[in-house]
Amino acid sequence: MDRYAVFGNPIAQSKSPSIHIEFARQSGEQLVYEKKLVEVDEFKQAADDFFQQGGLGLNITVPFKLDAFAYATQLTPRAQTAGAVNTLKKCEDGSVLGDNTDGQGLVNDIIINHHRALKNQRILILGAGGAVRGILQPLLLQQPKEIVIANRTLIKAEVLVAEFESLGCVKACEFSALGDQSFDVIINGTSASLSGQLPPLPKSIITPESFCFDMMYSAEPTVFLHWAQQQGCQNLADGLGMLVGQAAESFYVWRGIKPETKAVIESMREQL
Ligand code: ATR
Repeated sequence: MDRYAVFGNPIAQSKSPSIHIEFARQSGEQLVYEKKLVEVDEFKQAADDFFQQGGLGLNITVPFKLDAFAYATQLTPRAQTAGAVNTLKKCEDGSVLGDNTDGQGLVNDIIINHHRALKNQRILILGAGGAVRGILQPLLLQQPKEIVIANRTLIKAEVLVAEFESLGCVKACEFSALGDQSFDVIINGTSASLSGQLPPLPKSIITPESFCFDMMYSAEPTVFLHWAQQQGCQNLADGLGMLVGQAAESFYVWRGIKPETKAVIESMREQL
């Protein structure tokens, strides 16, 4: 049977096996998909063992996305710009392709599941860490009018702008400089939600038509989505759709089949 797995630490909470097994059932593909707890300094050995034993593909989660980037013998352009790899694929010539499907997972969720076009839209991204770096290239490929990256530490947003400005209109600012600007799409890519915190955001960034997306997900609305709702915004989405979307894109990289995500997102939501 074709073998796939997700490597991470911790890994017990990973939903990837359930998602991929559902994709396989939906598409009639025969495969097994496991989760593996890998010790922090043993990524290379674990990946070598997996591929030598006939494994075909891996998903990579925290804290190994940079190790996977270094491990790959070839990289897709989107993995190259993200500087991180969440998908490894053993190719027929023995090489290992590194890809990053996080950003496309986000874009597909917004466009396909939430019916929001990104072309010509004004997009605000909160945060400038690794998660944001991973989504910039796929977002810019959608040709938004502009992307503003607001971050607590301005220099990190400015570094991203310098790296990505050749792909489209990208600007950096501090939260306090958002002033009275409003945005069509607002994406929270900070890790503040994890600790129940909210960046200091002016109310003016949101209009009733804005679409607010939190890359985090939880059973209850995240702090950011709760705040957006309080400002009168009803177009809200958390990162569960992105999680399923990145998995679907990995499935496509491995199997050449694009799974439907909506029913899988709904079933994952029920299990939260
Ligand atoms: P990840 O891989 O999840 O992106 P990261 O690279 O550590 O993690 O980045 C975390 C992001 O969340 C950063 O943009 C961070 O802001 P700083 O660059 O100023 O550190 C942001 N962040 C974390 N906690 C925050 C908080 N309480 N308020 C605002 N921003 C926060």
